[in-house]
Amino acid sequence: MNLLFIGDIFASPGRRIVADHLEDIVATNSIDLVVANGENAAGGFGITPAIAEDLFALGIDVITTGNHVWDKREVYDYLGRQPRLIRPANYPKAPGGGVVTICSRSGIPCAVINLQGRTYMPPTDCPFRTADDILNRLDPAVKVRFVDFHAEVTSEKIAMGWYLDGRVSAVVGTHTHVPTADTRILPGGTAYQTDCGMTGPYRSVIGVETDLIIQRFLTSLPVRMESARAGAELHAVIIDVDEATGHARAVRRHAIDGD
Ligand code: FE2
Repeated sequence: MNLLFIGDIFASPGRRIVADHLEDIVATNSIDLVVANGENAAGGFGITPAIAEDLFALGIDVITTGNHVWDKREVYDYLGRQPRLIRPANYPKAPGGGVVTICSRSGIPCAVINLQGRTYMPPTDCPFRTADDILNRLDPAVKVRFVDFHAEVTSEKIAMGWYLDGRVSAVVGTHTHVPTADTRILPGGTAYQTDCGMTGPYRSVIGVETDLIIQRFLTSLPVRMESARAGAELHAVIIDVDEATGHARAVRRHAIDGD
């Protein structure tokens, strides 16, 4: 089966390029399950219930998030009601869940797991031990297992890839908004990429208007963050998973230049 993962959907340019292209990507690549990180979908900061519903209506099956999921207060209750919107599982006490099991379009059970790194990130429980706990509790019949590891530091992400190699179908990183060129299948059969890359405006500094961020670096004063508008690109990873073993057969990056 083919699993599509779309990297951090950022503000309206990110949502628009997904709306314009998702149906075609799914049809052209025989996609069976669509997962996307949506923690920046609302103007670059958080996600609202209405935006989550819009993304589900476009054909996204599961939305993962990260540290920004808490930016919009109205999503707290919604996280408890909508199991297909998940937040990092290693937040110690938080609304919602960090893992969901869902059937793909062709009826294959799939687990989607969201974890967050700890280096240069808000303090949370250990993502490595949390992953162990989740996998120990997971129904062994659920072979297809996707992990979005939302983390800042390359080494922590790579370590997670090796730690879960052979135990999950894929570990793909999010949060840094720049796609990395290290797409591969690890020896145990886990597809891996350090960062999927943002789906949003690339004429920016990781999604935000360039002038504002340059001013912040020049002055060290706080600035009002505004999402950029131009240079929309979609960045995704397509993983072909052997549903009998849960191992990845192939993995490739899939990018679309929207301008
Ligand atoms: Fe993030």
